[in-house]
Amino acid sequence: MLRERWPSRAAFIFAAIGSAAGLGNIWRFPYLTYKYGGGAFLIPYLIALFVTGIPLLILEFALGQKIQKGAVDAFAAIRRKFSVIGWWAILGSFIIAFYYSVILAWSLKYLIASFGTKWGTDTNAFFASALNLSSSVGEIGGLNWGLVVALAVVWILIYLSVFKGVKSVSKVVMITMPLPIILLIILTIRAVTLPGSAVGLLYYIKPDLRALLDAEVWVAAFSQVFFTLSVAMGIMIAYASYQKKKADVTKNAIITALSNSGISILAGFTVFGTLGYMATQQGVAVPDVVSSGVGLAFIVFPKAISLMPLASVFAVLFFLTLISLGIDSAFSLVEASGTVITDKFKKVKRSIVSLVICIVGFLGGLIFVTGAGLYFLDIIDHFVINFVILGVGILECIAVGWVFGAHKIREYFNSVSSFKIGRWWEISIKYITPTVLITIFVLQIINEIKTPYGGFPLWAILVGVGAVLVPLIISFLIPQKKVEMPA
Ligand code: PHE
Repeated sequence: MLRERWPSRAAFIFAAIGSAAGLGNIWRFPYLTYKYGGGAFLIPYLIALFVTGIPLLILEFALGQKIQKGAVDAFAAIRRKFSVIGWWAILGSFIIAFYYSVILAWSLKYLIASFGTKWGTDTNAFFASALNLSSSVGEIGGLNWGLVVALAVVWILIYLSVFKGVKSVSKVVMITMPLPIILLIILTIRAVTLPGSAVGLLYYIKPDLRALLDAEVWVAAFSQVFFTLSVAMGIMIAYASYQKKKADVTKNAIITALSNSGISILAGFTVFGTLGYMATQQGVAVPDVVSSGVGLAFIVFPKAISLMPLASVFAVLFFLTLISLGIDSAFSLVEASGTVITDKFKKVKRSIVSLVICIVGFLGGLIFVTGAGLYFLDIIDHFVINFVILGVGILECIAVGWVFGAHKIREYFNSVSSFKIGRWWEISIKYITPTVLITIFVLQIINEIKTPYGGFPLWAILVGVGAVLVPLIISFLIPQKKVEMPA
């Protein structure tokens, strides 16, 4: 049977950008920029992007495209045992899918509440009641049925996007990739024309070069680059495996990475323009209203929007932005597994594979729609993002750079790409990227031991550690099969 193909180059690039551009672009990048030197943060960020991010993305595009398989078989083609790396990546990405979809379910609930900005003035209280939030992680409480329904809707949307593999994905991304960009532009125009927005933007843009002397800033820049490009999760390998073997690699990787960063930078204008307006309206300083992650999207932003004229309209636009930004990242996580399973069970129809995966994804997400859901989400996100992505990234560099041979992969992608990459790429993959990743990994472990994450009790921390180690152990237990390396 012939492998499925992207119908066009644009479809592939849209899907890759769609995966990369997600919630992190709107609630992580702007905040990190603000926190770590304003405009000066772009220096470590761009260095991280060019020195390690783009090389890793090229590696994954090249690997998937050369071997024409998802992550598991792609690594197994290098060495049978390396299939473990692929399994760890896709099991990790599946855990991310569990909770990423829950955040989309909250967004859906907020989208509905946007009509008439139902959160009122106390957005903190509204968030707690929307989630049925319990007082601590130990108090799990029952399922929040409203959110269960929202989660089911999200998984139906994901299923409709992936049910035919790349055939359906390529249609959906034609909307879900450009739509959030258009929405962000509208929201930014609104934000920067509000009184006080300039005050917020100053916090975002004004460079503080002293930040460059702080090691923490560099760690944040490199971590953000890995997270934002959706690498080391089996996603980009899977997507690239549906490209023709002779398709371009290097330009596609550069276009994907730069577009994604453009979306991040744009989102920063949306966020800080709005925060500047909010601070001015409330007569407080910008640092008093700044937030990131869940708090930014579901507590601070709803409040800021409530202060605007035509609040309902902008509330709807904002939550549509979140959903359209996030949904293609969510289904890319699903496609990483879908590709691996289809590689293994060639006879089973793709729509059945997708259905089973989506049902499992829905069931796995249920823990996050309990009263303690937010706490579990916080803990598991922290551990999986920091350890599985870094771990897989390190192993990936070793497997491809050292065992398979960085020169062989470079020879391949240069032979199919019009834009040729020099020897520096091999140096990045063999030395620089693994060194950076190992350094961050070690620093992270030291941090973890010094201060238990988020002040959570030990058992809860162990759940987070389990989310890293259990997939790794399972990866070792799955029988390994030899895969031929194509010429
Ligand atoms: N790249 C996405 C973002 O920035 C998140 C993501 C990470 C999605 C890893 C899938 C895998 O939000």
